[in-house]
Amino acid sequence: MVRILSYAVVFILCVTSCYAVKVVNVDAICKNVTDYTFCSNLLNAKPGTSRDLVSLTQYTIDALRVNVTNTVKLLDSLIAHSGSNFNLTYHYNMCSELFGIQKGALHTFEDVDKLFKTGDYESVVESMKTIQFDAFICLSGESPSDPPYEDTSVLPKYVNVVNLVAEIIIRMLSYVINT
Ligand SMILES: *[C@@H]1O[C@H](CO)[C@@H](O)[C@H](O)[C@H]1NC(C)=O
Ligand SMILES: *[C@@H]1O[C@H](CO)[C@@H](O)[C@H](O)[C@H]1NC(C)=O
Ligand SMILES: *[C@@H]1O[C@H](CO)[C@@H](O)[C@H](O)[C@H]1NC(C)=O
Repeated sequence: MVRILSYAVVFILCVTSCYAVKVVNVDAICKNVTDYTFCSNLLNAKPGTSRDLVSLTQYTIDALRVNVTNTVKLLDSLIAHSGSNFNLTYHYNMCSELFGIQKGALHTFEDVDKLFKTGDYESVVESMKTIQFDAFICLSGESPSDPPYEDTSVLPKYVNVVNLVAEIIIRMLSYVINT
């Protein structure tokens, strides 16, 4: 009797929650982003077995937070070592502002978890676009009179990772929003 009851409980839980769960086709998402290999490596590296859209998106948001934090830390170190090279210091300070906690990408992140958990996916997409724009300006310079800095550090690689991960989040959320 207890056994039958527990089957029934599992069944009822499944009826109420299984329909809400959308299993994600990683391949379909990654086919539509800039770097297929990067995308599938990242998403397939998610530990555990849950591959529904919500948990996979949360995982990717957590990864992006790590990537943004790493970029900020890298910039702190680059600034500390840029010495008397004015242009280099200027470039790193600009990127640091674009990524930092004051009004940059890390600041944008402060609301993302709450927005995502309350299901405000459109706002999360807007936040991701803001972060992508920060990354773009850091790499390309603020204006034509402020051309891209020929940066030989690993910063462009880090910034590009941020851009790619934000793109994947946007792509995944577009599935939730449009279906
Ligand atoms: C791929 O992305 C573009 C926009 O970037 C969108 O218009 C198109 O519908 C997407 N295709 C698929 C198969 O999701
Ligand atoms: C970005 O985050 C992922 C997941 O945490 C990590 O594997 C990767 O090393 C990070 N890359 C950078 C450049 O921070
Ligand atoms: C610094 O930037 C200015 C304006 O872009 C440029 O004219 C100048 O040559 C740069 N100086 C160095 C040392 O790269």
